[in-house]
Amino acid sequence: MHKKYKWYKIADDLNEVIFSENGLAEWEVNGKKICLSLFKEKLCATALKCPHAGGNLSHGYLDATGNIVCPLHRYKFSCTTGKNISGEGYYLKTYPVEKRSDGYYVGIEESGLINWLK
Ligand code: FES
Repeated sequence: MHKKYKWYKIADDLNEVIFSENGLAEWEVNGKKICLSLFKEKLCATALKCPHAGGNLSHGYLDATGNIVCPLHRYKFSCTTGKNISGEGYYLKTYPVEKRSDGYYVGIEESGLINWLK
């Protein structure tokens, strides 16, 4: 089913996003906390909480192949697809990111009953 996104500008420039030395940043979009990562100059956005047991992924690190490693039990998730690379069968929610002429935008699905019914 086609998802409907609402786009939120998160920064004019990537310099505005303070990535920790682990390559990740906790960011707030429209009251929702997400995790940003920068892999090969591509900005990725995922849920902040690990789908396993809720670890704050921005406190983990981004490995050399673009996987977010959770700080709690070290499960790995692709920052671009959310796939659970280490194979435990979880799925990390990802959000689409767009670079537009005036900055970076993250798409959040519109919530509500209509979305829930899809
Ligand atoms: S909470 Fe992230 S791996 Fe367990």
